[in-house]
Amino acid sequence: HHIQWDMQAAQKGGYKHFMLKEIFEQPKVVTDCLAGRVDWAREEVTLPELAALPVPKRLHIVACGTSLHAGMWGKHLLESWAKVPVSVEIASEFRYRDILLDPEDMVLVISQSGETADTLAGLRIAREKGVKVAGLCNVVGSSIAREADAVIYTQAGPEISVASTKAMCSQMVLLTLLALYWGRRKATLADDVRHEALSALRKLPGQLESALPGMRDEAQQLARTYSKARSFFYLGRGHCFPLALEGALKLKEISYIHAEGYASGEMKHGPIALIDPEFPTFALALADDLFPKVKSNIEEVQARRGKVIALTNPGVEVRVDNPWVVPAAWGPLAAFIALPALQLFSYEAADYLGKDVDQPRNLAKSVTVE
Ligand code: G6P
Repeated sequence: HHIQWDMQAAQKGGYKHFMLKEIFEQPKVVTDCLAGRVDWAREEVTLPELAALPVPKRLHIVACGTSLHAGMWGKHLLESWAKVPVSVEIASEFRYRDILLDPEDMVLVISQSGETADTLAGLRIAREKGVKVAGLCNVVGSSIAREADAVIYTQAGPEISVASTKAMCSQMVLLTLLALYWGRRKATLADDVRHEALSALRKLPGQLESALPGMRDEAQQLARTYSKARSFFYLGRGHCFPLALEGALKLKEISYIHAEGYASGEMKHGPIALIDPEFPTFALALADDLFPKVKSNIEEVQARRGKVIALTNPGVEVRVDNPWVVPAAWGPLAAFIALPALQLFSYEAADYLGKDVDQPRNLAKSVTVE
């Protein structure tokens, strides 16, 4: 009789898949990202990695996949708090375009692995043009980390599952800190906003920790009801639009259900033609200023007899087939609680359908070729 020591099972720490383990690691990821970067008493963010570089005139964020969605989300905060104009570009497009870069601009490449070929090429092009490049990376000593003028590590720990989850959470924390940091340096950020943002960040790990188990149960129920669907829409507005893109990406990646992420207001320009009782919609309907607009977009879907899951917050009145209420967080930081809901829904759908969650077909963790 001998004991089979399954290394992988041990590394999964009791979870069925790495993806699930990594989703549940997000409270710790937030804590680790904040560690040493916030002076809570003085309500100040320090990013020594960037101290030597001036606040850029414009920021060009360059990334692929999930990292691109994190960048799109960060744009909202950087523009509104630090008043730095931000363009977010797909790395494979950026590298072959005649880009206009000013010496006072900065390129921020976002990459979990630090090895994505297109993103690395974007970094090299920017450096050749004499523009400063900052890298937001998870893997220490990776190519991007080595070649960037400044590197900020996300400190999310190794991410094994091909579908990225906790890395996006860590990128979003760092983008939030960056917006607060530059906002302070440029004096564009009101003290009360900084105060609200920092207290919300500080509360996040605890909030996530207590919300995740219940969110998983809800995701499991919804996955049972909805994983027969052949297609899905994900709708969001404002800072929730990038989350809609990410929700759709996660669903396609691991469950192979076709999914499209759309800006809610753009639906009527074509995609709404696809809606019927067999084509459900996952709407991001969080408690924010744009909710009334999202609500009317949901009604447009319902008028075509489309089924709707609405991810929302306590106290929000939304009549849909499946309202999914998750705890609220201040302002755009609500995204940190919405993100794991999207991840868990895809996870549960893929698992329910019997797919290979951690090793989806045709996909690689890091794409080092063009
Ligand atoms: C691959 C992975 C994705 C990831 C993307 C960018 O496609 O499967 O999960 O988001 O690459 O990777 P990076 O390491 O540059 O963030």
